[in-house]
Amino acid sequence: MSKVTVIGAGNVGATVANVLAHRDIVNEIVLVDIVGDLARGKALDTWQQAPIDSYSTKLIGTSDYKDTKNSDIVVITAGIPRKPGMSRDDLISTNANIVTSVVKSVLEHSKNPIIIVVSNPLDVMTYAAFKAAGIKSSRVFGMAGILDTARYRAFLATELNVSPKDIQAVLMGGHGDTMVPLPRYTTVSGIPVTELVKPKALDAIIERTKSGGGELVKLMGTSAWYAPGAAAAQMVEAIVKNENRIFPVCAQLTGQYGLNDIFVGVPAKLGKNGIERIIELKLNKEEKKLLHESAAAVKEVMDVFDKM
Ligand code: NAI
Ligand code: 2OP
Repeated sequence: MSKVTVIGAGNVGATVANVLAHRDIVNEIVLVDIVGDLARGKALDTWQQAPIDSYSTKLIGTSDYKDTKNSDIVVITAGIPRKPGMSRDDLISTNANIVTSVVKSVLEHSKNPIIIVVSNPLDVMTYAAFKAAGIKSSRVFGMAGILDTARYRAFLATELNVSPKDIQAVLMGGHGDTMVPLPRYTTVSGIPVTELVKPKALDAIIERTKSGGGELVKLMGTSAWYAPGAAAAQMVEAIVKNENRIFPVCAQLTGQYGLNDIFVGVPAKLGKNGIERIIELKLNKEEKKLLHESAAAVKEVMDVFDKM
């Protein structure tokens, strides 16, 4: 009996709504965009797909936040995406204002929703949403790690010529060039990846993963949406079905990994209350160093936001 609102009916938001509708696990999806007709059009299009693909999820598109009343989960994709040559951090001033105002509007009509942020720069926009919302950080978190890990897993699947389904991996840190894929926690059907892929090839895959978003921006002139949309929908599914799944999630750290007052990607358990638990891995010295470097890069942009 869940109601999910997706803010931003652009490439990513419309994909979240479409993927989620196909899962047939929520009653209603409200797609909101500042451009109301865009949201109405995409919601109607996805509703007209229902008889073909056989789902019952109702969809409406709107620019009126009254329609979002009593949402259980809100996914925020509103904001501008990267153009070639831009970093995610270049989006901060525009997207911080958008995310802050969107969160305030949402909370006027829904008391205590779970908020999943997708807008970039992801870690700092999650922080911005948390500040604007004033609700528990277990209910405000960001999507990036599922996407970054999926890229890493897909590249490994290509390298090994195996199904991506069999590749499990952990990736931590900020959603940027400093992200930290962790080969020690990467397996192929239980086999450590280091037994299957030579160090040089593995390093190349890690580097490609770190710039995976940029690779797509170069190819398409804007950033990706299919995998990002599916990743956010997977988080919603874990919450709606109270699955207690473990994903890399951009979460507020309060001492874990020796980090405080920062939003950064870590493994976390997602269930009906949002983040049910942050998992603290026993990182080795090198992994810890990389995570702390990534956290420092995120912190710099958080400071920019704080001074805005
Ligand atoms: P897009 O340009 O296709 O869609 C963004 C939508 O937001 C537009 O339809 C726009 O009208 C709407 N919007 C702008 N201001 C708004 C407001 N105040 N209220 C409601 N809607 C508003 O962009 P796309 O590709 O969907 O990307 C959206 C965001 O997600 C970008 O910031 C992008 O960088 C980020 N992103 C993050 C990923 C992640 O892993 N966290 C992955 C992919 C994209
Ligand atoms: C991505 O990684 C742009 O953050 C977005 O595709």
